[in-house]
Amino acid sequence: MFIAARSALFLVSRRLQSWTRVKKRTANNPPPAKYGGRHTVTLIPGDGIGPELLNHVRELFRFCCVPVDFEIVRVDSSASSEDDINNAVTAIKRNGVALKGNIETNHNLPPSHKSKNNLLRTSLDLYANVMHCQSLPGVPTRHKDVDVIIIRENTEGEYSNLEHENVPGVVESLKIITRVNSLRIAEYAFNLAREKGRRKVTAVHKANIMKLGDGLFLQSCKEVAAGYPDITFDNMIVDNTTMQLVSKPQQFDVMVMPNLYGNVVSNVCAGLVGGPGLVPGVNYGKDYAVFETATRNTGKSIANKNIANPTATLLASCLMLDHLKLHAYAKMIRKAVLKTLSETQLHTADLGGQGTTSEVVHTIMQEIQRGGPRTSEQI
Ligand code: NAI
Repeated sequence: MFIAARSALFLVSRRLQSWTRVKKRTANNPPPAKYGGRHTVTLIPGDGIGPELLNHVRELFRFCCVPVDFEIVRVDSSASSEDDINNAVTAIKRNGVALKGNIETNHNLPPSHKSKNNLLRTSLDLYANVMHCQSLPGVPTRHKDVDVIIIRENTEGEYSNLEHENVPGVVESLKIITRVNSLRIAEYAFNLAREKGRRKVTAVHKANIMKLGDGLFLQSCKEVAAGYPDITFDNMIVDNTTMQLVSKPQQFDVMVMPNLYGNVVSNVCAGLVGGPGLVPGVNYGKDYAVFETATRNTGKSIANKNIANPTATLLASCLMLDHLKLHAYAKMIRKAVLKTLSETQLHTADLGGQGTTSEVVHTIMQEIQRGGPRTSEQI
């Protein structure tokens, strides 16, 4: 039993490492380190559980002597002005990389009040949202051996912010699908699939109803697929996809889809492997990368109670370290996070345990300490 758990842990750790190596070849190049080998990263605490979980990242980085300095930029979600988010965009343009908590979007505010998360992604042209969802050792779930990469178009589709009510009681909400952005995300997906040694890419759509918009997305995926004869291409209607995911998720390998379907499917997949507290996510553009939790929840109702699961945020910080080529630090932290997660008695409430956030983080630190002092060569 113990040996089986250890080998599962080893496998997941290896898969996560190889995943980050692939990511490096397909994403933008990170900014070089500054004087003394240090990096500056923009840190946006966000709302809800964001600030406390990102404080734990800072605590852990200090503990591990990670050569990263954070430039903290706060964004006020309730402010109608876009000054804060513009400052955040400028800081990310300067630093190239950010780690963020989710910024609350109050849907009772007028339509002119846009999602600041969305503004950030579109301003930086972070066109690919990437989430790797896999079963984790020690996390009890209905389905085993889930290992799916979800690639979501992140800049258009239903998130175009183009809604109007010219006639009272009739709202038109525009979904924008462009050939250039569909080809771009499809190319990203196939390129990633090839580099990762994946066998299949599934395009998710609703082209039976949205014949023009989703039809264009699907056609673009088909065109790109023709250039990747080594990878099987198939497509699935989004409603069937969600049913298939909850029935037999192991059939999926790499999935590519427009924005809103990506949001829904990534939340379903996070649920399949244990919930929003576990899975990290990344937003890549040509020039910048922003790391966060895959489901982008704020977790407002559990904020400041010391009960949120820190795993997703910590793993997002490991992906960020890999992006900065600080692989040894990423490996050290990731290994300790996964080892701690496999100790089920330490689980936080979302996984059915009674552990607190800080207990989990301190156990991770102890685990790192048990690894012993490292020489500069090892780091
Ligand atoms: P929520 O923040 O209420 O979270 C959903 C559930 O997951 C809650 O039960 C929460 O306690 C739990 N949860 C989340 N993170 C957790 C963690 N680390 N540990 C343990 N439990 C955790 O989600 P909701 O209502 O979807 O979103 C709230 C805000 O986030 C809104 O402002 C929304 O606009 C924004 N948002 C949500 C996205 C999503 O994919 N769900 C995407 C983009 C924005």
